[in-house]
Amino acid sequence: MANVIVIGAQWGDEGKGKITDLLSRSADVVVRYQGGVNAGHTVVVNGQTFKLHLIPSGILYPDTECIVASGTVIDPKVLIEELDQVEALGVSTQNFKISQAAHVTMPYHRLIDQASEERRGSRKIGTTGRGIGPTYADKSERTGIRMVDLMDLEGLRAQLEWTIQYKNVVLEKLYNLPPLDPEAVYQEYLGYAERLRPHVVDASLRIYEATQRRANILFEGAQGTLLDLDHGTYPYVTSSNPIAGGACVGAGVGPTMVDRVIGVAKAYTTRVGEGPFPTELVDGIGEHLGDRGAEFGTTTGRKRRCGWFDGVIGRYAVRVNGLDCLAITKLDVLDELAEIKVCVAYDVNGNRCEHLPTDPRQFALCQPIYETLPGWKTPTSECRALEDLPQAALDYLKYLAELMSVPIAIVSLGASRDQTIIIEDPIHGPKRALLDSE
Ligand code: IMP
Repeated sequence: MANVIVIGAQWGDEGKGKITDLLSRSADVVVRYQGGVNAGHTVVVNGQTFKLHLIPSGILYPDTECIVASGTVIDPKVLIEELDQVEALGVSTQNFKISQAAHVTMPYHRLIDQASEERRGSRKIGTTGRGIGPTYADKSERTGIRMVDLMDLEGLRAQLEWTIQYKNVVLEKLYNLPPLDPEAVYQEYLGYAERLRPHVVDASLRIYEATQRRANILFEGAQGTLLDLDHGTYPYVTSSNPIAGGACVGAGVGPTMVDRVIGVAKAYTTRVGEGPFPTELVDGIGEHLGDRGAEFGTTTGRKRRCGWFDGVIGRYAVRVNGLDCLAITKLDVLDELAEIKVCVAYDVNGNRCEHLPTDPRQFALCQPIYETLPGWKTPTSECRALEDLPQAALDYLKYLAELMSVPIAIVSLGASRDQTIIIEDPIHGPKRALLDSE
């Protein structure tokens, strides 16, 4: 039995949805611990497509309990649409639970997110516009509305009147937007409260009880390490903590409850939104990766920026997450390339830099130092074992494992569940092994 955290080791969109879906097979409980409807993943099962933002993909397993924990932010409107969508496809949502301590995204959060991005002009973050930052800002300011407040209908009316009075000053005076009517917002959210009420629980207690019955718990991170509020490429980050440490805070469990941490990284790198990206390719190869990898956001449809694998970032993700192993996704996207580059360090004003700089000005100056490896120019999407892979593809994986000093446990070669090589079953397997550096 093991409790496992799955995190994104790059800037998000690493294919965590597929990996958590795979691992959910062995999980009794899946916990989403941070973020909100800024995240998005598509899961394809038996030809049916599920587009999920908040509901963990574990929902597709009928006996798996799915908990959206206290560190998340809930947009009830979007969540209800998601629940309706999965129910319409015949999936039960009875085992879906929401923490009463999770904060609620309100209409003014979305409006302020979008208006503030516009106001920032060239300093914009490139947010998803889903109100994530303003919801977390209210949480830190201690003026937020939590699920437990949403359930208290009389208290909610008074809280909304007080809050919206203040938010209207911001909307009208700062952003030149029309004010919101507290009663209309109340009436809208009243309906959401009733729909979500059966799902609201004390999540930390429920997760603790699961640990006591020795259930397998999978903690699912959203976004990625480089988007972490404290340890990402600030200010071009999200407003929560996707790194492994965020799982304990967001779920309300102690670190001693966690057995393993699995990082998910693409065989190359992508990024959505603004901010420096040292290995970005603005040439035909970048276009090729974007086309073959279908690199468009699930939530916003935005085109993702594409580049070579960045080993500096990889090593950083190993460090700040304490990764036990890696899942490398989308290896097949590199199939047609004659040669493949990997960034092993940065050049900053003539100095070699092995570590990610904390200063964004310095990060903006980083030039990648590449090693070039031969491509394999052979299709790999039908490979089901390491022995099936062309030698150059295997060498590439070994090179990545060595560069980051971490074993690779899973290789993904396409969107469907079977397009996967599980080198070691990370939930039940030994702590270290398999595709190590030697
Ligand atoms: P926010 O989370 O909407 O505030 O956006 C902040 C930054 O995080 C922007 O650069 C977004 O593009 C990025 N971001 C947020 N969610 C995701 C995600 O699920 N995948 C990739 N990038 C994301």
